[in-house]
Amino acid sequence: MVSRESVSVRAVAPSNIALIKYWGKSDASLNWPANDSLSMTLHHARSITTARAWTDAQSPGSHRISFGDAGTASRVPEKTTRFLEWLRAEVARHGSATGALDITTRNTFPSSCGIASSASGFAALTMAATGAWTGARTIADLENIGIDRAKLAAWARRGSGSACRSIHGGYVHWQRGASPAGQNVSSAFSRDDWPLADLIVLVDDKAKHVSSSEGHARAFTSLLMAPRVAALPERLRETVRAIESRDLERLGTIIEGEAMEMHSVMMTSTPRTDYFSEPTTRFLAWLRAERVAGNLNAWFTLDAGPNPHLICRPEDSAAIATRIKKEFPAFPVIEDHTGNGATLEAVDGH
Ligand code: PMV
Repeated sequence: MVSRESVSVRAVAPSNIALIKYWGKSDASLNWPANDSLSMTLHHARSITTARAWTDAQSPGSHRISFGDAGTASRVPEKTTRFLEWLRAEVARHGSATGALDITTRNTFPSSCGIASSASGFAALTMAATGAWTGARTIADLENIGIDRAKLAAWARRGSGSACRSIHGGYVHWQRGASPAGQNVSSAFSRDDWPLADLIVLVDDKAKHVSSSEGHARAFTSLLMAPRVAALPERLRETVRAIESRDLERLGTIIEGEAMEMHSVMMTSTPRTDYFSEPTTRFLAWLRAERVAGNLNAWFTLDAGPNPHLICRPEDSAAIATRIKKEFPAFPVIEDHTGNGATLEAVDGH
């Protein structure tokens, strides 16, 4: 039998950094968060994923994946296979979705560097697989068959919660809604509304020791979680006001408190979950002292890892990076900024 191969499509999905964090789930199997979150989509930190479907290879176990352009294809990990088979059933409601996938994927950023690869990775995989199965070559093609960004975001969310925010650009609001089906993900502000820089400082390149799924599951063991969830709606409104008025000091003050609060929940969970490392504390003390002295205008946030993201004005970014490199020559600094949402295109000659 001759294999029939679909068009090869490439999805490019950016990573995102949460300003108001997603930590703790109301329903773990559906990735229904305990609270709304708000993120900034990045530009340079991306996952680039190409997929094509082999229509004569139906078995889910036949999906193959290679990491990096020259990587060797291997079987897709089980968790991802389960996600792909769930996704295939969803896509099939919009037409046929048959065939095992050949997937190639790479990130433009190193792993374990403080940039979550699951966010961009699952966003790119969702779009590439959907394109390969449906024959859609662009997002507009997908919209024509009833698959819009909101739907892609809802699908990507099932792979990894924060992936839903990577489908959109600018500043993205993930609303938890009153039920899992009532969730909504949309861009609250575009990139051009207020482009900001994100300097990611690699103070510790060791991989995190507790997965975010495990961390989410522990969140509600912290006594700090209930008051946190109760106070977050007002903090979110305050964040939106800070972005609307382009008030960096106000935004910075909120995001630092928010990151420290999430890490306080982590540290008071059972078992205790500590993503901070000694260089994190040292670096943050330096940052505050420099800011108080009037030497730099940058505010930090942290994800489930030890590496701070510094949010600052794009015009200050190079000078701040130089200052960091001078003070901490051992810490690599990745310079990124606000970006647009994920894209899909056909790959010629494949
Ligand atoms: O998408 P997950 O399950 O990897 O969770 C991400 C959690 C944080 O990065 C710590 C916060 C966030 O909102 O991205």
